Amino acid sequence: MSDLPVFPSGFVFGAATASYQIEGAAHEGGRVPSIWDTYCHTPGRVDGDDTGDMACDHYHRYPEDVALLRDLGVDSYRFSIAWPRVQPTGSGPANAKGLDFYSRLVDELLEAGIEPAATLYHWDLPQALEDQGGWRVRETAERFGEYAQIVAEHLADRVPRWITLNEPWCSAFLGYSVGRHAPGAQEGTGALDAAHHLLVGHGLAMKAMRAAGVREAGITLNLDRNVPAHDTPAGRAAAVRADTQHNLVWTEPILAGRYPATEQDTWGELITRQDFRREGDLDLIAQPLDFLGINYYRPIVVADAPYREPDPAHRVATDNRYQEVPYPDVRRTAMNWPVVPESFTDLLTALKDTYGEALPPIQITENGSAEHDVVDQDGGVHDPDRVAYLHSHLTALRAAMDAGVDVRGYYVWSLLDNFEWALGYAKRFGLDPRGVKAGSAHQGAVRVPAVCALVVECVGDG
Ligand code: FCB
Repeated sequence: MSDLPVFPSGFVFGAATASYQIEGAAHEGGRVPSIWDTYCHTPGRVDGDDTGDMACDHYHRYPEDVALLRDLGVDSYRFSIAWPRVQPTGSGPANAKGLDFYSRLVDELLEAGIEPAATLYHWDLPQALEDQGGWRVRETAERFGEYAQIVAEHLADRVPRWITLNEPWCSAFLGYSVGRHAPGAQEGTGALDAAHHLLVGHGLAMKAMRAAGVREAGITLNLDRNVPAHDTPAGRAAAVRADTQHNLVWTEPILAGRYPATEQDTWGELITRQDFRREGDLDLIAQPLDFLGINYYRPIVVADAPYREPDPAHRVATDNRYQEVPYPDVRRTAMNWPVVPESFTDLLTALKDTYGEALPPIQITENGSAEHDVVDQDGGVHDPDRVAYLHSHLTALRAAMDAGVDVRGYYVWSLLDNFEWALGYAKRFGLDPRGVKAGSAHQGAVRVPAVCALVVECVGDG
């Protein structure tokens, strides 16, 4: 492709996955259930009642997966560590077999010349901790700090890049308010408690990782571009409430050491009680980051709306007097997400405008698309829509860098088709189709390496 953007040498290209989405081996090596095992095994929760019991069988087939990464030519691989594998009940001593699995994976990566990047928490909370209150209670944040210490002490010498939490918005608000992610709760103050305790957990994990001498540590947020449907005072105010719930709740404490000034207008009665916040929490949460991880997929258009539940006693935390409306006239991926690459540029430049020097270097820790892949007559998946998506988003990313945003790396979501949470196996984000369910037409199909070429050709000296 001739019009590919060129990135500076040293820019990191990688691919990403997450433990529950690919590992399988749910009952092996001392692993016990996480909240996602429980959620998946509750009939009706996940589309098709799919589970991660086997997923891509990565636990057994990781050498093949590392070979795929090597053939793809990536510099780095972002994976996550399953807390219930290394510390099954979420407290107490480590499980040596669990740690050993990640140790072997890391060695395999290093041998293949691929830099490991580890996420400590990509949503698989040990069920035992959920039974004691989950992220609603502060003890879970404390346990998370201890777990971070165990893992970092074991792997810090070989893993240069660490991410504390992946998308805490999903953990707090999809998990405890919308109820479409594990543990499937629909609460008001419970979700706000969870958001704060995730932030505290992040702070404790940062401290533990610094003490263990990790080279680079940060957090990954799924910041959303919330576009007002109507350019009116009410329309703009609705977008600010959406921005508060999705973005400011994280970026304000982490990057500016304060709670969002707009939280009262966003949560009203739900945030009157503040006893979950303690003195010193903001200092813990606002520790300097080596990088901010950002996952970007699509913009959201929002309009002003009344509360869905007028009674605050029964209102969930994501009921903030706005509603999402469809993005007009653009292509949509198989997730029905609008494809708007310019909004990727806008998100990054707006973040730089807001936080200036307080914004650390950025790693794009996820970006990609699920498509209706078709196996062609030659047995290959030619992937034109995914190639176009990645191409346009890499171009948009380069535009943000040209506008002064310091971006150091980009990880495609995902290496493999995998377990897409509440949507089961129906949505395919992978560069390689191995993860598809047995019996599917894709079994054995090989992806034509256009995507791989795209990633490799983008690296230059520009
Ligand atoms: C992100 C998640 C990742 C995957 C992609 C499509 O929100 O971090 O696990 O599901 O979306």
